[in-house]
Amino acid sequence: MNTRLRIVTLTLLLSLASTASGQPKEFNYDESKVPKFNLPDPLKLSNGDSVKDAAAWRSERRPQVLELFREHVYGRSPKKPRRVFAEVVESGQALEGRATRKQVDIRLQRDGGPVLHVLIYSPAKSNGPTPAFLGLNFNGNHTVSNDPAVPVTKNWVRRGKNNRASADSRGTSASRWQVDRIVKRGYSLVTLYYGDIDPDFDDGFKNGIHPLYLKKGQAKPAADEWGSIAAWAWGLSRVLDYLHTDESIDQTKVAVIGHSRLGKTSLWAGAEDPRFAIVISNNSGCGGAALSRRRFGETVKRINTSFPHWFCDNFNKYNDNENELPVDQHMLVALMAPRPVYIASAEQDRWADPRGEFLSAKFAEPVYRLLNAGGLGAEQMPAVDKPVADRLGYHIRTGKHDVTAYDWDRYLDFADKHYGR
Ligand code: GCU
Repeated sequence: MNTRLRIVTLTLLLSLASTASGQPKEFNYDESKVPKFNLPDPLKLSNGDSVKDAAAWRSERRPQVLELFREHVYGRSPKKPRRVFAEVVESGQALEGRATRKQVDIRLQRDGGPVLHVLIYSPAKSNGPTPAFLGLNFNGNHTVSNDPAVPVTKNWVRRGKNNRASADSRGTSASRWQVDRIVKRGYSLVTLYYGDIDPDFDDGFKNGIHPLYLKKGQAKPAADEWGSIAAWAWGLSRVLDYLHTDESIDQTKVAVIGHSRLGKTSLWAGAEDPRFAIVISNNSGCGGAALSRRRFGETVKRINTSFPHWFCDNFNKYNDNENELPVDQHMLVALMAPRPVYIASAEQDRWADPRGEFLSAKFAEPVYRLLNAGGLGAEQMPAVDKPVADRLGYHIRTGKHDVTAYDWDRYLDFADKHYGR
């Protein structure tokens, strides 16, 4: 091999390796190169006045911050519909009798339109309604456990021949869902495939739930209207509407959880819908818990370029222009206050900027304090595998971008703590 060829080959191999580890090159992973920036103050009204008390936060500043995120980041979603149409299509025993399973189809219209196929595992031995974790899954309900009673999704999937799932993928995401652990601790798990709400590719919003809500003459959502993340979040709220009618679930104790793009989604769901009692974001990164202004790992420009359908079109204005954003992601966390929020990072997941994820929780604290809700219980970012938790919780665990049993143990402990269990 001549030298030139060798260099080309080496460069190619290196770039493949960096992509495989989820850390594309040409982005900053060096803390000393994080630009200096000023964060917008969650406790300053748009006219510059300070938010003096909890009442002013609730009645003035919180609605203002929520509108800013709708207008500039995720887009506006339709109003809560008067009702959803739910039908229990199957139920039975699971996990060798340790759990019960229920499958519920939710429709947004009486006839036609997308169907949200919801899978619920509850502890077999429970007397009364149980608290629940509600989260979207990436690859279909059949991947969440090895349970043969769960049908293989028929929807478009990212992985799979011709974007169709097969029975081979049954149980392949089981380590991310830890059903046994969850039910053993007395919680239900409620999950559905995010592609039931909106398939995750850029098709100009022709599929999924967006077309149901277009105004007359509109071909796609306007620049301040919902992208896919907001649609997934809105779908989670529709599942919550159903859970409010399901007597096996304690509707006051539903935590919303998500990983990665779906961790961005769980944060937005929690911000838009205060009925979620706890909000959990696992390795959510850019557009999730990580501060955009840090430009560490993934940037606003990169996310808008690679995933043009995730955010609203207005978010493109902040490509390479983060300092002009009227918000940053600490204000997203603050929208949850005084509800408990848990943010988790992984040591090798530098693309998602672990420090930026921690700092969002940290800089949301003033709002929690104003509401007398405590804070994070730590001044500094904790060491790896040393979780901190007060009303806000955070950990960075050993390992890669993923959801693991370690993460779930922290979330279960956090829920127990806040529910007084
Ligand atoms: C990509 C994307 C991230 C996202 C992740 C995921 O890496 O850049 O923003 O969180 O996919 O959802 O798996």
